[in-house]
Amino acid sequence: MKPPPSSSSSSSILLRKGRLSPYLFTLLAFILFVTILYGEDFTCILGGQFDSPYPSDHFHQSLSSTTKKKGEKLPFAIEESEKECDIFSGRWVWDESRPLYEESECPYIQPQLTCQEHGRPDKDYQKWRWQPHGCSLPSFNATLMLETLRNKRMMFVGDSLNRGQYVSMVCLLHRLIPEDAKSMETFGSLTVFTAKEYNATIEFYWAPFLLESNSDDAVVHRISDRVVRKGSINKHGKHWKGADIVVFNTYLWWMTGLEFKILQGSFDDEEKDIVMLPTEDAYRMAMKSMLRWVKKNMDPKKTRVFFTSMSPSHGKGIDWGGDPKGNCYNETTMIKDPNYWGSDSRKSVMRVIGEVFRKTRVPITFLNITQLSSYRKDAHTSIYKKQWSPLTPEQLANPASYADCVHWCMPGLQDTWNELLFAKLFYP
Ligand SMILES: *[C@@H]1O[C@H](CO)[C@@H](O)[C@H](O)[C@H]1NC(C)=O
Ligand SMILES: *[C@@H]1O[C@H](CO)[C@@H](O)[C@H](O)[C@H]1NC(C)=O
Ligand SMILES: *[C@@H]1O[C@H](CO)[C@@H](O)[C@H](O)[C@H]1NC(C)=O
Ligand SMILES: *[C@@H]1O[C@H](CO)[C@@H](O)[C@H](O)[C@H]1NC(C)=O
Repeated sequence: MKPPPSSSSSSSILLRKGRLSPYLFTLLAFILFVTILYGEDFTCILGGQFDSPYPSDHFHQSLSSTTKKKGEKLPFAIEESEKECDIFSGRWVWDESRPLYEESECPYIQPQLTCQEHGRPDKDYQKWRWQPHGCSLPSFNATLMLETLRNKRMMFVGDSLNRGQYVSMVCLLHRLIPEDAKSMETFGSLTVFTAKEYNATIEFYWAPFLLESNSDDAVVHRISDRVVRKGSINKHGKHWKGADIVVFNTYLWWMTGLEFKILQGSFDDEEKDIVMLPTEDAYRMAMKSMLRWVKKNMDPKKTRVFFTSMSPSHGKGIDWGGDPKGNCYNETTMIKDPNYWGSDSRKSVMRVIGEVFRKTRVPITFLNITQLSSYRKDAHTSIYKKQWSPLTPEQLANPASYADCVHWCMPGLQDTWNELLFAKLFYP
């Protein structure tokens, strides 16, 4: 048995609109610098600036995770769970039998996520299993998953966090397929894993906002002045048509501040018509576009759609009562406080998701991974990843300065997201 992870108290700073402290300002400038020079997707650290805490009873009222009509069987469901169990509410338990696969066994993991190969000294982060309070998760059956995908397309759409979940899914399945009967190829924004004998594909489509944006290039997308075009989901959506299972996410790229730039016309217009929207409203607009797209393009009798909630980052030690100058670097234990949540921007975005999903009748299954992931400050890639440019002596002297506290080591946390997806797909 493993001793429980060390305790830490939760604390957070509430930053009010219009009052940026000098500390925050320096931090912002620094993060921008890091983002432009070295980083990918670091901007979420800029989150946490939204106003006002919400009445917690409203917030803690969880959404029933699949919107559907009573008595209707969902596609792919083997068995409807009898009692309502919130599989996203639970705790992490130590499990010697983990991980579900070895890092070295899965050639599809990008070098930004292979932590052991890049010198991570500990492996404890691979050993945790999610245990819901009210029931047990079915064990991930790779045979069942792959058989289900026979003659089908499964597609992950979103940002690099969703790409991580995509790669995790491929890693969980690929062992069943002989070497010469599988491949992974990238065509621009689309990456396709093919299981030839199954006539099955598992795909990832890069669209960090779901809508058209100026960050859509699959390789060159580190743009700090981000613009999203209103009503443009078909720009990418036309590439998602025909998929049987779709898993969406979008969050991190919206987190650039209190407001977000929305383009009304086209990116080709000489005079661009851009309005500033509160970030929550811009995000709500994207969620609604996604639901409209699903309603129009997905057949609820044959297909399933999932939405993965915000992936939390751990860029500020002060959030969990740690070293104020620290972050996820050198963290090998998780946060024990069950009420730990972290940044307030996550709270306001979660509220938007809740509002949008509560109102819709479009069948979509919500993977509420935010809370369970927010405990896992130990699970990030930190400094154990491929660096795109050589590190400076100043950085080397202060590893926390270049730690990636956004992405997750693999195997690890994101395999759990897929176990939850598996549970909701077959036992909704
Ligand atoms: C997601 O889960 C958290 C923690 O259980 C909960 O507080 C939140 O309300 C849930 N979100 C929605 C939209 O249901
Ligand atoms: C996994 O699924 C396959 C195909 O449905 C089934 O034959 C097998 O018994 C399952 N394995 C376990 C351990 O449940
Ligand atoms: C192969 O899969 C595609 C969907 O991805 C499907 O349209 C096609 O009919 C399948 N081919 C056969 C021979 O079943
Ligand atoms: C890492 O954390 C341990 C305690 O958890 C501490 O003793 C050690 O000094 C830390 N190392 C660095 C480089 O910060």
